[in-house]
Amino acid sequence: MSDQTATRTDPATIEAQPAVWTKKHLLDVDELSRAEIEAVFETADAMKEVLGREVPRVPALRGRTVITLFYEPSTRTRASFELAGKALGADVINISAGGSSIEKGESLIDTVRTLQAVGADMLVMRHPSSGAPYLVARHMHASVINGGDGCHAHPTQALLDAYTIRSRLGDLSGRRIVIVGDIAHSRVARSNIWALSTLGAQVTLCAPPTLLPPALRRRAEDDDGELLAMPPVRVETDLDRAIEGVDVIMALRLQKERMSGGLLPSLREYASLYQLTEERLARAQTGALVMHPGPMNEGIEISPAVARSLQSVVEEQVTNGVAVRMAVLYLLARGKV
Ligand code: CP
Repeated sequence: MSDQTATRTDPATIEAQPAVWTKKHLLDVDELSRAEIEAVFETADAMKEVLGREVPRVPALRGRTVITLFYEPSTRTRASFELAGKALGADVINISAGGSSIEKGESLIDTVRTLQAVGADMLVMRHPSSGAPYLVARHMHASVINGGDGCHAHPTQALLDAYTIRSRLGDLSGRRIVIVGDIAHSRVARSNIWALSTLGAQVTLCAPPTLLPPALRRRAEDDDGELLAMPPVRVETDLDRAIEGVDVIMALRLQKERMSGGLLPSLREYASLYQLTEERLARAQTGALVMHPGPMNEGIEISPAVARSLQSVVEEQVTNGVAVRMAVLYLLARGKV
């Protein structure tokens, strides 16, 4: 890393001075440069050191208030942001749509204005509508972090996924990664395409044509599967072919809550063609990493044996989520634009 892009981090105090970070919001990874993603990783390394201490806390965000506002269910994202905020000394308040005044008809904008009025410095939000965090960022002085918006983006998931690969395999440049499953409805896939490609990995998307976005679907029907879009990815409808020699396989669940129905003949047929099994995994590089953002539906997109195999880093992804989200909160607290 050059001097210009270096992030100087003292793990003893977490007095990081991210040379490249100026952002106030994190809405997606498509707005991050490689140097900014590497700044998150380097800061997350320091946060991991903090989390390994006897008292895993630093006062970096003391006096700040982090509010999580979730209009959709979540286990990992919400819990890890809460732990991340507390480990940095922030006050953390969790709000779900159910049980809040949203149930009485309060609009999204009125809700976030209310949260700003009570002192939110940072808002982590998940919403079923793609683009909702962008709208909120225009109405708030607080930093907005997208914790998942519709089918659009899940930036911290992609950052923790890339961080986990980097922890295991080192530099991502030239690494071959296949993302298999319901690409069409997956915000995780879209954010990962950006993060992994920005870091130099070669991404292949694998799904039945009905679970590919229409533009990719048309390309998959062509002979060579190359897609010269931005960023470039390969598209493959045959998992046995897609998995050949790859370094990482990322399985995704069927996002039934976002499907209009009728996209698959049957779950049984889908599982027979697209489930990550031990037989299929054997076609990848020896020791290839198995990843899943969770929640997993074992027996559909991934076999129980693969989910529990030594190649699975699914729990490591969840653990790394805390350090990566600490890094994001820490960097955004110092951002300006
Ligand atoms: N991966 C992910 O976003 O999980 P949760 O829905 O549990 O937050």
